[in-house]
Amino acid sequence: MAILLKSLFFLSLLFVSGSAFPFIGGLLGDADKTVDQGFGTVANGGADDDATSDTNNQIPDDDNTGVAQPDFQTNFLGNWMIHNPNAGVSSMHLQLLPTNKAIMTDATNLGPSAIKLADGKCLPVPGAPRLVDCWAHAVEYDIDTAEVRPLEVLSNPWCSAGGLTVDGSLISVGGTEEGNRSVRILKPCQGCDFMDQQAVVSSPRWYSSQEKLEDGSFIIFGGRREYSYEYVQSSLTFPQRRVPLLFLNETDDDKIVNAYENNLYPFVHLLPDGTIFLLANRRAVIISTETDTIVRELPRMPGGSRNYPASGMSALLPLKISNDGAPVQAEVMVCGGAKPEAAWTLDKKKQMLLALTDCGRITPSDPNAFWAMENMPSRRVMGDLLLLPTAQALILNGAMQGVAGWRLADSPNLTPLLYTPENKVKERFQSLSPSTIARMYHSSAALLPDGTILVAGSNSHPKYTFTGPFPTELRVEKFSPPYLDPVLDAHRPLISEDTSDKTLAYGEKFSVAIELEDAAGAQDFKLTMLHPPFTTHGYSQSQRLLVLEPVSYVNGVITAVAPPSGKLAPPGYYILYVVHRGVPSRGMWVQIA
Ligand SMILES: *[C@@H]1O[C@H](CO)[C@@H](O)[C@H](O)[C@H]1NC(C)=O
Ligand SMILES: *[C@@H]1O[C@H](CO)[C@@H](O)[C@H](O)[C@H]1NC(C)=O
Repeated sequence: MAILLKSLFFLSLLFVSGSAFPFIGGLLGDADKTVDQGFGTVANGGADDDATSDTNNQIPDDDNTGVAQPDFQTNFLGNWMIHNPNAGVSSMHLQLLPTNKAIMTDATNLGPSAIKLADGKCLPVPGAPRLVDCWAHAVEYDIDTAEVRPLEVLSNPWCSAGGLTVDGSLISVGGTEEGNRSVRILKPCQGCDFMDQQAVVSSPRWYSSQEKLEDGSFIIFGGRREYSYEYVQSSLTFPQRRVPLLFLNETDDDKIVNAYENNLYPFVHLLPDGTIFLLANRRAVIISTETDTIVRELPRMPGGSRNYPASGMSALLPLKISNDGAPVQAEVMVCGGAKPEAAWTLDKKKQMLLALTDCGRITPSDPNAFWAMENMPSRRVMGDLLLLPTAQALILNGAMQGVAGWRLADSPNLTPLLYTPENKVKERFQSLSPSTIARMYHSSAALLPDGTILVAGSNSHPKYTFTGPFPTELRVEKFSPPYLDPVLDAHRPLISEDTSDKTLAYGEKFSVAIELEDAAGAQDFKLTMLHPPFTTHGYSQSQRLLVLEPVSYVNGVITAVAPPSGKLAPPGYYILYVVHRGVPSRGMWVQIA
């Protein structure tokens, strides 16, 4: 298999056929700066008037002074625990479901895993009618009990895309071999297995990225040598709309001498005006889903390549929705990665280059948008960039040297970084307690309702290999970030789920009942809502965190206005946290529609 893969890799080189067009001129192009749609207006559902009358009629809690008290401080740098010593599969892809089960999937064609299918069952091997496979290549993982249930996967999800549908199912799209045009659905029901529709998406999608849109459908970009995107509607009716996208060909480094690809698993973010931010390799564009055109090219990101195999990280920073209806400022962050030539240099010269250290932030709606660059305390490729309940970010996993791929990296970066977007430059990163487990290629991570981070997978080998450097990693860890310091527990709100609203309507008020010892006013809280992402290859697809300002806090009940539209909060399930002066509650699953 390794040999097959290798030949695939070099096949992509042959495809280049020596076309060394001038790199800078060719890639830079002339950005179209004339079309900038800016923000749409943000409705606030008349929240202001309602809020005023509410607060007038009710007795405020002790500290409703309108002046926020400072956040609680902690010196806790976090800690790690092994949650399960053997999950049976290495978690190449990870999706948390609203049932509090995490779904871990791996390739199906690379040999035995460490867990068999249930009840001695074996599945036919696609394309080899006489062979069967009795190993499971996906599991359902109980995030509380660490219990593992083997799942049946009928088509190969290796390097697929995915997301959480409006009804809380995992939708896994593409992959390779018979799975390259598949849609696999795993419903959030007890004992369920994947349903598989093969050959339904328009094009093979291997290493593609998908993002949930305002109506709950998904847009899926790219894949190996697939220069297009398409839409998958929630109704799963096929065929879907496919749009060629030359930009993905232009950013494919296979046409560059001394570089490979560097634009797979591109970064896709739905912006508040409904347009799409797409970054591939070093270039970023804004795409209108109404006209299916590139409406603007943003400045080129300096520093190196950001997508597979130079796998960096990216997230849409937390979106603050204020009650006065002010436009929501969206900022995209991109961190780490590798030099464009890193994979080629390793392959041809047996030299492993150091990963990138820098991060860039850009405000796509700004007519003068630019990349504000800053440095992480350490280098990182193949890391994960997760948003936290506190509206901070966590950077973890990955390596300091090499690129994504089998045996192509070294120097695991064991130290997570806490990132506070609002701090001054140079005061944003904090290094936290290191793990002892290398999590490099094919590792993943997810934020859980209790605020811990589930960390799983890592396989630097095609097959499960338990000897030599960087063995296949089956251990599942949980990391507790600083905000879980037990010293802060006295100030931690507890959501009373039974008396809180769990179904939210766009722009409408909802309430969350809490228990809290401290005296506090509405201004001492924020509510944050996480859309649980599908994480693979260092990128968390459809990840977004909304930050809401409460309008009142009366008798232990926080009232807030739900996000105004699907552009800010695509429909479906979210984890809602109450954050009291920097101390988050355990999250509660809510739905918005
Ligand atoms: C996708 O899978 C089909 C069926 O296995 C195969 O015939 C086709 O060559 C594959 N395409 C790519 C680009 O791998
Ligand atoms: C991609 O671009 C190259 C030129 O750089 C061209 O030769 C090739 O036909 C393009 N491929 C597609 C599928 O558009």
